[in-house]
Amino acid sequence: MQFIDLITQKNRIRENLLKRIESIIDNGQFIMGPDVIEAEKKLADYVGTKHCLSCSSGTDALLIPLMAKRVGPGDAVLTTPFTFVATAEVISLAGATPVFVDVLPGTFNIDPSKVGPAVEEAKKKGLNPKALIPVDLFGLPAEYDRLEPVTAENGLWMLEDAAQGFGGTVGGRKAGSFGLVSATSFFPAKPLGCYGDGGAIFTNDDELVELMRSIRVHGGGEDKYNNVRIGMNGRFDTIQAAVIIEKLTIFDEELDLRQKAAAAYSARMKDRLVVPVIPEGYTSCWAQYSVLANSPEDREHLMAALKKAGIPSAIYYPIPLHLQKAYENLDYKKGDFPVSEAFSDRVFALPMHPYLKAEDIETICDVILGA
Ligand SMILES: Cc1ncc(COP(=O)(O)O)c(C=O)c1O
Repeated sequence: MQFIDLITQKNRIRENLLKRIESIIDNGQFIMGPDVIEAEKKLADYVGTKHCLSCSSGTDALLIPLMAKRVGPGDAVLTTPFTFVATAEVISLAGATPVFVDVLPGTFNIDPSKVGPAVEEAKKKGLNPKALIPVDLFGLPAEYDRLEPVTAENGLWMLEDAAQGFGGTVGGRKAGSFGLVSATSFFPAKPLGCYGDGGAIFTNDDELVELMRSIRVHGGGEDKYNNVRIGMNGRFDTIQAAVIIEKLTIFDEELDLRQKAAAAYSARMKDRLVVPVIPEGYTSCWAQYSVLANSPEDREHLMAALKKAGIPSAIYYPIPLHLQKAYENLDYKKGDFPVSEAFSDRVFALPMHPYLKAEDIETICDVILGA
């Protein structure tokens, strides 16, 4: 059994995708070819923002807005410690300081009530709090109805990390459309992934998008050898754009299939494990189906039983970021973010993809319930 099945999906889009790739190879527009522009248009339409700027990875999609907003030394950017390292790494790459905010016990996402106190803590450390990066963890959008006012009250701007959330919704509004600007990843394992690295940035802000467009290609001005600011090579490959265009044609159908798989898991396991909580009015794109065992020992026992049965499982994330060696300079200690720490001790993820068969879900649940 596979954790993520990309082969069945590939077979569905193979013919059309090969035609597109063949035409790219024939016309030679490997860099910023027409498929890149087409993918950007389709992605912006899908998310419902005025602009989409494709780029080289989800990490660069987070870094480019921070560079465009001139976040740098002396600034604080608030985010969750219970996320993939890239969310905080970009803050450090910009030269600013990550200030962590614990997550909600229910949803794995940042706790809006803890943003204000974290802003005060940052000020006490002599930092200028500038921005908030909520993460749509495991596919569930963060609590934007509460985060939007909290961000404004605290004089921050918001960068949504929708790397895992693309396809999720809040009140019908799509992940990728929250905050001043949003970032997603097309890493192959994501619900909408390409066949290599890739990402995209979304915003409605006309000025910001032009700044970010410049940063994406070496800080170009009127032409590419007129460099007006420090930028990077953050372009999205044309062939990867072709993959995204073809995958988008089946994406909504795949989201329904993911939803069915998640519902089947939760129905059977809700009395044995803490299954994901999806608040009223929210939908998840189910980037992961992560559950909580009763204790670290219980998790070890269940993961061993799954392994014995040939079923893969994984832990996202075993060490919260404030306890990572890379962040020891921030002087956080164990106990600072108890909810994230408890999740790291008990969380584990089960196979999740649109092509998971009902019998496979039954088998996985039988193993867990019988362990
Ligand atoms: C929450 C989160 N943020 C950022 C990233 C970075 O994306 P990428 O791997 O495309 O650079 C990821 C991807 O794994 C992620 O899960």
